[in-house]
Amino acid sequence: MSLSMLRAPLRRAAVAGTRTIPRAQFRPSFRHYATESTQGGTKSNKNLFIGLGAVAGIGGIAYYYYSDARSEAGTAVKSAVQTAKANTPFKPTKEDYQKVYNKIAEMFDTAADVEYDDGSYAPIILRLAWHSSGTYDKDSKTGGSNYATMRFEPESLHGANNGLNIARDLMEKIKKEFDWISYGDLWTLGGVAAIQEMAGPKIPWRPGRIDGYAKDATPDGRLPDATQGGDHLRKIFGRMGFNDQEIVALSGAHAVGRCHSDRSGFQGPWTFSPTTVTNDYFKLLFDETWTWKKWNGPKQLEDKTTKSLMMLPTDYVLVQDKGFKKYAKAYAQDLDLFFRDFSNVVSRLFELGVPEQQFVTSEPWIMKTIEEQQEQSKKEQK
Ligand code: HEM
Repeated sequence: MSLSMLRAPLRRAAVAGTRTIPRAQFRPSFRHYATESTQGGTKSNKNLFIGLGAVAGIGGIAYYYYSDARSEAGTAVKSAVQTAKANTPFKPTKEDYQKVYNKIAEMFDTAADVEYDDGSYAPIILRLAWHSSGTYDKDSKTGGSNYATMRFEPESLHGANNGLNIARDLMEKIKKEFDWISYGDLWTLGGVAAIQEMAGPKIPWRPGRIDGYAKDATPDGRLPDATQGGDHLRKIFGRMGFNDQEIVALSGAHAVGRCHSDRSGFQGPWTFSPTTVTNDYFKLLFDETWTWKKWNGPKQLEDKTTKSLMMLPTDYVLVQDKGFKKYAKAYAQDLDLFFRDFSNVVSRLFELGVPEQQFVTSEPWIMKTIEEQQEQSKKEQK
């Protein structure tokens, strides 16, 4: 397999790999995280505010009619009402978030213009979403996607985040256009777009994250170390609240993207189609013979047949460890099962650290792919 074959344009790969997934399959099992806030937002509080608002509203209307009799004062009140309206904070709708999604999706393909990797920024944008969410600690309820603290040093400089400045810079351009969106929402929506545009399953998503401060940044060492084994994976992902099955499903993200020796030290892609979400990662783990690569870099495996693919020690452990192996086998044999479990667990991953009452909706949204929107507008034109 030559490198040029790996560099198939994303759009073509995505179209070829497009699958129809029954909607019901993605109905997520909603979790109420341990981070659920104990402050504010209770029904009685809300009712109190509505009540106060109503009193103020009635008072306002009464004042309006009283002063309207005296035309000068009436004009003043009218203009005050207009100013109040203008000052009402912008309340984005699902359509507004879809616009952001579209802008991110359009950005992915611009990688081909500068011959970046395999012609898509989608894998690195997915890595950004994962690294901003995977810092969550369920015991201290710190970290996770809520505050997007990777914007701050030292978190931005943590070894695990090497290279993600590229992803943050790309997202910064989108943030300039849609300044109302929080970084946490922007980055996780990027992860959703990356998976969906690379022909993966739909990822139910909800907005509501808020921007935090440098003080909220997480300590180094919360993300997995690729040189380690099963105990380490269970410790790191267990801290986020994930079990063996979920660790294996999440690892399936390595169907896409590649390692870069100037970022992590490791080198190469996991699969022959690094811009399409498939279960090939699991298939290759079982079907190929993997040997330790002889080179000057960190310990990694290569496939015996082409020597062009790689596996990290933490990938290989999924077929070595009994607890993980049964799930890896199931995903290698059943793409639909992998897609369903991957969708559920990624959706949860992206919500780690976000208090439930912060979300603007209890029912998650399914964002449309660019292709679906194109098909829809074609139908409407007919
Ligand atoms: C199981 C523990 C994991 C370890 C040890 C690990 C480690 C790594 C390493 C070392 C790289 C290469 C970075 C580079 O050199 O550019 C990488 C890339 C990547 N990882 Fe993971 N990862 C893990 C889990 C995950 C998860 C849970 C996801 C997403 C749900 C993910 C998504 C990605 C993607 C998409 C890339 C490719 C980025 C690119 O192409 O630039 N990884 N990972």
